[in-house]
Amino acid sequence: VSTEWEATVSTLAPARGLRRLLDSPVLAALTTPHGVDRYLDLVNPMWSVREVRARVVGVHQETPDVATVTLRPNGNWPGFVAGQYVQVGIEVDGARRTRCFSLSGSAHRPDGLLTLTVKQHPTGHVARFLRTTARPGTVVTLSPPDGTFTLPARRPDRLLLISGGSGITPVMSMLRTLLDEGHRGRVTFLHYARTAADVPFAAELDRIAARHRNVDVLRAHTRAGGGELSGRYAPEHLRGVDPAAAAYVCGPVGLVDAVRETWPGRPPRVEFFKPPAPAPEAGGPTGEIRFTATGRGVPNTGRTLLEQAEAAGLTPAFGCRMGICHSCVRRKSAGHVRDVLTGELSREADEDVRICVSAPVGDVHIDL
Ligand code: FES
Repeated sequence: VSTEWEATVSTLAPARGLRRLLDSPVLAALTTPHGVDRYLDLVNPMWSVREVRARVVGVHQETPDVATVTLRPNGNWPGFVAGQYVQVGIEVDGARRTRCFSLSGSAHRPDGLLTLTVKQHPTGHVARFLRTTARPGTVVTLSPPDGTFTLPARRPDRLLLISGGSGITPVMSMLRTLLDEGHRGRVTFLHYARTAADVPFAAELDRIAARHRNVDVLRAHTRAGGGELSGRYAPEHLRGVDPAAAAYVCGPVGLVDAVRETWPGRPPRVEFFKPPAPAPEAGGPTGEIRFTATGRGVPNTGRTLLEQAEAAGLTPAFGCRMGICHSCVRRKSAGHVRDVLTGELSREADEDVRICVSAPVGDVHIDL
């Protein structure tokens, strides 16, 4: 009973009338400079006038390097569409860190809980925190959900969902959502992992395959056999899939490009879980990057500005590292950069660029 009571209080409070009062300009002025939320925090860390906060309910290890974190959001959470992501905010050593994660659960969970399925990343403070430090009761902040890698409101009759590695998260959310809706159309769910032990949600996928005759679950293991398919993506893996199916692909650039080039149907909707490596410039990288805010300079290695800044010991803010959340935007005051997603060259001075997907071409000055 006490757990239910606590969950209810965390989610609903502060009540709507009280929230209106707390959101008033008068109270904002009275609580300057800290703001109302700072005082609400003292009563309950889940309370906030506008911010979405969520309490960790559980952490479940899916594979040796992937864990699912289950969260109960507060009353400011607006709901999400399967395939979207959120930015999770935590405090580490007094510094605010944020990182994007796709939501992995159904958009229709009756208990209102959210799940994030998190893989360790070498520079990922937030991923490490969620996997190793977060405990039931830990409170994090969430951005509103965002992202356009989503199913249309009118569900297609035939669907092809392809993922590789951690790209399984948004398509798993789509599959779970469709099943909760009682979707009757045919769904082909094809996932690539190195081995069987690297497939998150393996037992659930087995259950889905056994219970839902309209869902084909295909797992391809690229380093070991034992799946329904084996090896890296090949067009033969899609034999038998209706080319009229609406295709969604999320994974590394090699998989996404291979499907894009060979899928005979309408171009798939795609999402990368990490951007492609910058294409090498003819003659190799040249020039110097000047980090104008810190006065440092390094020779250009051709990697993205974010990677080169981190290699130089800087810790720029970032969210997704794949060009979608814009939390890494910095002002480029001089030089040219190439967008690694589109190949476009930006030549303007005094321009805001996403440093996670911008590779310098020659000398660049960037506000870092
Ligand atoms: S970190 Fe998200 S756009 Fe760069």
